Amino acid sequence: MSDDRVTINEVGPRDGLQSQSRILPVSGRLRLVRALEAAGLSRIEAGSFVSPKAVPAMAETDVLLQSLKQSEPNGRVNYSFLIPNTKGYGLAREAGAESVAMVVYASETMARRNVRMGMMDAELAARKIIDLARGDGIEVIVIVAVSFRCPFEGAVDPAIVHRIADRFVDAGIHRLVLADTIGAADPAQVGTLLGALAGEHGPGALGCHFHDTRAMALANVYAALEAGVRWFDSSIGGLGGCPFAPGASGNVATEDVAVMLRQMGMETGIDAARLLEASDLATELTGTAPGGRVREWLRGQVGS
Ligand code: COA
Ligand code: ZN
Repeated sequence: MSDDRVTINEVGPRDGLQSQSRILPVSGRLRLVRALEAAGLSRIEAGSFVSPKAVPAMAETDVLLQSLKQSEPNGRVNYSFLIPNTKGYGLAREAGAESVAMVVYASETMARRNVRMGMMDAELAARKIIDLARGDGIEVIVIVAVSFRCPFEGAVDPAIVHRIADRFVDAGIHRLVLADTIGAADPAQVGTLLGALAGEHGPGALGCHFHDTRAMALANVYAALEAGVRWFDSSIGGLGGCPFAPGASGNVATEDVAVMLRQMGMETGIDAARLLEASDLATELTGTAPGGRVREWLRGQVGS
């Protein structure tokens, strides 16, 4: 593999916490973000600007953002915030966000269940947000939900994802992230789709977001790496899941991805001992954090 630097975008504070039964106060969410920064994660999806009625765990993300800015450790961390619509964009901008992640959909039913918009309306909103963000100096990441399989409509036609990529990759976005929202993809499928997209758009335009429902998330990371992808979303403790996508379970664990990449000689900037501390904190705060597979082995290695 050519380039050995990989970006891990930590999504635990958003994807991880949004579906937990225990709702954390802002102070707990802030502690988790700080622990992740201390572990060397340089990109963190810290929260979302969504309806607090729809996702109570993400209420007061504006307060979290303020706290993050007030005590920023050394300015090297990029915090992004998930937004579902233009209202979310406005709230993120008002709060001072520098990076937003807008969601579009590879299935009509998933779009309607998640944000009560059609796929095309979500794409129109994303285009509008990209235009506004350009003027506001805000970075936009576009996430393609259910890129492989939809819990309502089943297998997703790769042509849909190609059409979305054609529409967004050159629209001035930072990255197009293909999400396996319910963790249904397999490595062969990932290799084929990401290989084709990387051939057309270049792997640097792309990222992947895998859930581990069928225990294939780490294998999917590897398949995407082989296709040249160097951006992966993952979640501390393997926390995660979408409240609006039945069957969605945890994200691929940051611990597992970090250890695999390091052993393969790739550079992520992550400190394993501090990552374990963040993982323990995630467990303490949520009362549950499955932690992927490698956590106990790692504990033996770092001697804690
Ligand atoms: N941030 C905060 N509040 C929002 C919002 C946003 N991005 N988008 C809509 N709202 C509020 C509206 O102001 C309204 O508030 P009110 O009841 O106090 O008047 C309420 O949500 C419902 O709005 P409505 O116009 O009926 O619905 P909508 O179609 O505009 O939007 C959703 C509703 C679906 C976008 C909203 O429920 C939502 O934020 N869902 C979260 C999706 C999510 O996070 N999924 C998981 C991650 S992919
Ligand atoms: Zn997810």
